[in-house]
Amino acid sequence: MTRTRIFPINKINFHDTLKEAAAIIDDGGLVAFPTETVYGLGANALDTKAVRGIFEAKGRPADNPLIVHICSKQQCCELARNIPEKAFKLMEKFWPGPLTLILERQEIVPDVTTGGLDTVALRMPDNEIALGIIRVSGKPLAAPSANLSGKPSPTTAQHVISDLCGRIDAVIDGGTAEIGLESTVIDMTLQVPAILRPGRISREDIEKEIGSITTGYLDGGHPDSAAVRSPGMKYTHYAPDATVILIEGASVNVARRIQEMLKTYESAGLKVGLLLTDESNMTIHQDDQLSLGSKDKPAELAFNLFSGLRSLDARGVDIILVDGSFSRHGIGEAVSNRIRKAARSIIKV
Ligand code: TXA
Ligand code: MG
Repeated sequence: MTRTRIFPINKINFHDTLKEAAAIIDDGGLVAFPTETVYGLGANALDTKAVRGIFEAKGRPADNPLIVHICSKQQCCELARNIPEKAFKLMEKFWPGPLTLILERQEIVPDVTTGGLDTVALRMPDNEIALGIIRVSGKPLAAPSANLSGKPSPTTAQHVISDLCGRIDAVIDGGTAEIGLESTVIDMTLQVPAILRPGRISREDIEKEIGSITTGYLDGGHPDSAAVRSPGMKYTHYAPDATVILIEGASVNVARRIQEMLKTYESAGLKVGLLLTDESNMTIHQDDQLSLGSKDKPAELAFNLFSGLRSLDARGVDIILVDGSFSRHGIGEAVSNRIRKAARSIIKV
């Protein structure tokens, strides 16, 4: 059992807190910190023992590689090689920001960080606290989302504490992560780059910069390319303790089906939680219901999704019915991807 220190960070203690965090990283410790997407659990990416600690604290399978967080292009060139021109274009446009690039790795990146792959995932986060820890420690930070493996990603320090208290050295509490969903991951080592995980930076955003790319993730359907390249894709993800059922279709039909299912499950003695859009939230009335936001504003849904799943879990519901009538536009595609991964079953109405 490790004593987990909690550092609320503000303008006054900003630099002292970064120094404390950097000192823990220098010592081979584990520090959770906010990024613009979700909270990350960081360790020195070049320290094999420290990185092993991340896998242990999260209960993460050893073949699922970590994203390495950097604060400069120079760091990028120290960790990756044969970087294609298209990758530089994406860095120029989207860094710092929620885009992770898979590149060929340099020798100094240890196997434990890349899950034994010859590639490395790099990202420059758009968050002053995250960038500050990297800058002050002078170390690239290997940092997966700071949740227990398989649980929804944490968007607040409180979420990190509820999963990892006693397992890590410190949490920097920098408030709620502004996007709420993890970065877009794109494999730049392929002739035609492939999105391995959708996020706020969409396929269209990327194609505007570098031309045609493909989809390399399974989403209940088929990826464009036969090869499933991201090891993380084969594991259950984002699953709360309750059983998640996703209902997809037009708004009116989804609301009607949710009401029918609610009756059935409640009369069977089950405690049911609902994750709705604002639109269906107006027509359904039940104790454990939350709205994630308007069905036409996927950024709101992204911001509220993981905390919604966690808060219904905390109420001890057996089943969570999710309203899948929202727009798949922009980050809506990523919202759909995460809910589909969390769902035990998907019903189309
Ligand atoms: O927004 C984010 O990306 C957050 C914050 C903390 O930066 N991090 C995050 O890390 O979501 P994690 O470990 O939960 O997800 C990393 C994903 C996994 O699906 C992993 O399999 C994939 O990136 N990945 C990492 N390195 C890879 C590599 N070399 N090749 C293919 N996929 C890789
Ligand atoms: Mg994760």
